[in-house]
Amino acid sequence: MGEVFINKHPLVQHKITRLRDKTTGTNEFRNLVEEIGMLMGYEALADLATEDIEVETPLERTLSPVIAGRKMAVVPILRAGLGMVNGIQALVPTAKVGHIGLYRDPDTHEPVEYYCKLPTPIEERTIVVTDPMLATGGSACDAIRMIKQHGGKKIKFMCIIAAPEGLERLRKEHPDIQIYVGHLDRQLNEHAYILPGLGDAGDRIFGTK
Ligand code: URA
Repeated sequence: MGEVFINKHPLVQHKITRLRDKTTGTNEFRNLVEEIGMLMGYEALADLATEDIEVETPLERTLSPVIAGRKMAVVPILRAGLGMVNGIQALVPTAKVGHIGLYRDPDTHEPVEYYCKLPTPIEERTIVVTDPMLATGGSACDAIRMIKQHGGKKIKFMCIIAAPEGLERLRKEHPDIQIYVGHLDRQLNEHAYILPGLGDAGDRIFGTK
C-alpha cells in the first residue's frame, strides 16, 4: 500500500483550524491554502536529489549541494488544487505546472475528465499532484491514472484534509505513490463532503457561491 505521511506540525494544524472556521473570508482562506502548500511542500520534497557544485565563499572554495536536475512538476487538480501551487512554486521556482480538469458528477460523485495538459518530459519529473480535499478519492485516483498513462513515474499526492475512505482507496489503487495529508478527518457525509472538513474548498478559495 502507498506510503502515507500525516502532518503533525503545529503551524500546519493551526492554519487548518483557521481554514475550517466558517467565518474565515476568501482572502485569508486563499493565503492559508498557499501557506499550507508551502509548508507541506517543504516536507514532501525532502527526498529531492541533490548534487554538489563548487562555490566560492568570501573565505574559500567549497563543495555545496544544489537540487539535481531541477525537473519537477506541480499538477493541480482543477480547480481547488490551484490554491496550493504558488506555495510549492515559491520553494521550487523552476517547477513546471500541469493541469488536470475533473469535476464530480453530482449523482454518482465520480470524477469526469475534461482537461489534461502536462509538462514534458513528464517521465523524468518528480510530480506533486495537489488537491486540498481527498474525499471519495475518485478524482485523485483518476488524475494519477492519467499522469501514469502519460508516462509519469515519481508521483506524490498532497492534500490538506483527507477522509479515511478516500485515503484507503488512493492507497489501494496507487500503492506506488507517496501521499501527504495535512489532517485526517472523521468521515464523508451522504453528499461526499468531509466531516468536520471545511466546506467546499474551491468555492472558499475563489469566493464563489
Ligand atoms: N471537496 C470539497 O471541497 N470539500 C469536501 O468536503 C469534499 C470534497
